[in-house]
Amino acid sequence: MTTKAEQYEDVRKQIASVIAGETSRTARLATASCLLREMFGERFFWTGFYEVDPNQPDMLVVGPYQGTMGCLRIPFGKGVCGAAAATGETQLVEDVHAFPGHIACDSRSNSEIVVPVLDAAGKLAAVLDIDSTEFGAFNVEDQAGLEAICGDLLTIA
Ligand code: SME
Repeated sequence: MTTKAEQYEDVRKQIASVIAGETSRTARLATASCLLREMFGERFFWTGFYEVDPNQPDMLVVGPYQGTMGCLRIPFGKGVCGAAAATGETQLVEDVHAFPGHIACDSRSNSEIVVPVLDAAGKLAAVLDIDSTEFGAFNVEDQAGLEAICGDLLTIA
């Protein structure tokens, strides 16, 4: 049986091999959202990125994703994505309805994990947001796997 850690290792390799040499940030993020969703299927109900708006540095704007329509903009500090952007730390939320200021883009989401994505200079460029319709769908194994992948996304040459 394939463990979750093995699945993350596998999808990390897939993503790294496809994005190597790619200069477009959109192409890199789109590839990651696609391959993550392909690996984990329905459990990853919404899988994608909010990018820091270059014209408004305290604002996230939706980037490449797989899933139902996401909100277009999220201010830093608002909801789970905004908390990850403001603190620079992964947010692992077992019940989004209990999270202060949670933004319900789709009422079917019940838990989520949001991981910061830094550029090659170490500056926040985006956050990876994964939502599930299950409560408590994500744990520290998901956190470790996704943080490793996010560490690669904008740094692999
Ligand atoms: N639930 C998120 C908003 C983004 S979406 O669900 C696609 C949040 O509170 O940050």
